[in-house]
Amino acid sequence: MTFDLDDVIATKAIVVCCGSGGVGKTTTAAAVALRAAERGRRVVVVTIDPARRLAQSLGLTELDNTPRPVRNAVSNGGELHAMMLDMKRTFDDIVLTHADAERARQILENPFYVMLSANLAGTQEYMAMEKLGQLHATGEWDLIVVDTPPTRSALDFLDAPDRMTRFLEGRFLRMVIAPAKVGGRVGAKLMSVGLNTFTGVLTRITGAELLRDLRDFFTAFETMFGGFRDRAKQTYRLLQDDGTAFVVVASPEPAALREAAYFVERLSTERMPLAGVVVNRVHGVPPAQLSPERAIATAEVLEERKKRGPAAGLLRLHADRVALAAQERRTITAFAAGRADVPLVEVPAMATDVHDVDGLRRVGTALAGGSAA
Ligand SMILES: Nc1ncnc2c1ncn2[C@@H]1O[C@H](COP(=O)(O)OP(=O)(O)OP(=O)(O)O)[C@@H](O)[C@H]1O
Ligand SMILES: [Mg+2]
Repeated sequence: MTFDLDDVIATKAIVVCCGSGGVGKTTTAAAVALRAAERGRRVVVVTIDPARRLAQSLGLTELDNTPRPVRNAVSNGGELHAMMLDMKRTFDDIVLTHADAERARQILENPFYVMLSANLAGTQEYMAMEKLGQLHATGEWDLIVVDTPPTRSALDFLDAPDRMTRFLEGRFLRMVIAPAKVGGRVGAKLMSVGLNTFTGVLTRITGAELLRDLRDFFTAFETMFGGFRDRAKQTYRLLQDDGTAFVVVASPEPAALREAAYFVERLSTERMPLAGVVVNRVHGVPPAQLSPERAIATAEVLEERKKRGPAAGLLRLHADRVALAAQERRTITAFAAGRADVPLVEVPAMATDVHDVDGLRRVGTALAGGSAA
């Protein structure tokens, strides 16, 4: 089934780009946003850790956590705004909005909070969701495109809110908050929570100081539990909405496509709408009419004749490219075979990294099924 990006752009309010690390999520998110803006929509793209040159092209020179218009990118009545997610700032803003001034100060200054807000596994995913909820609530945008953090597993993104709320309202917390129960087992318990961050935290803050900080932090934080849980639920429902579309990005490699397949299944379990799978950085077969076998054979002949010059090297390069293209083709075909109902689109590997508006436009064209050349 063919992925119809322009339909997605015209009809959806939220696009979430996910996938495993390094496959092109940030690039895809920016390309989708640009294309939507160029087709007349008012768009904001929330990027996470964009490459420096891409950030510059989008006018993102600082992490200020609010959308800024991208200059010179759009005409046609559309608007493109971009922001880089600042995880800590988003966390701080939640505290400031939902706790009274004194409480907020206590939380923000607490050393435990400072480390937690920056290091807790899943915080970035959670904050991306928070930001999405906030932007949606403003009602200002026709389309919000969300990039997701570079996690090992794309599924982490969906698990984050739940993990976060479970953590914040968990038994562990009650134990820490109730002074009578705080005993020598806290260290062990902390470890058992399974958040590797604590290893670092424990070595930096020790003993009584640790317990006091923890207790102060969670006591101050407790007033906000309801808010966290409720908003996580709201965002979850937002992700299930008809107006939302998940774009799963993968590279044409077995591991990335396996991850994409898990994600597609998971979306269906969660009743979250899949727009399609993007196979990014696909290598085309070079135009020369030369089989890889023939190229290698010719290269060998040249090498035997001690003509190990650029010609032999180029022939081997050609053979490698053809073999790579064939390998990728097999991988994509195998993925698509049992998934006729999953819309799929391929984006070619561009000659250079994609870090400017022109490059994004080419990726957008390819995403919409056109030739990216
Ligand atoms: N189709 C493409 N052709 C050439 N280069 C590409 C293409 N798509 C992405 N890139 C480049 O690949 C690199 C990784 O892309 P990107 O940052 O979008 O991946 P990501 O999935 O967001 O990574 P991370 O998981 O680290 O956030 C970037 O340098 C980008 O310019
Ligand atoms: Mg990225």
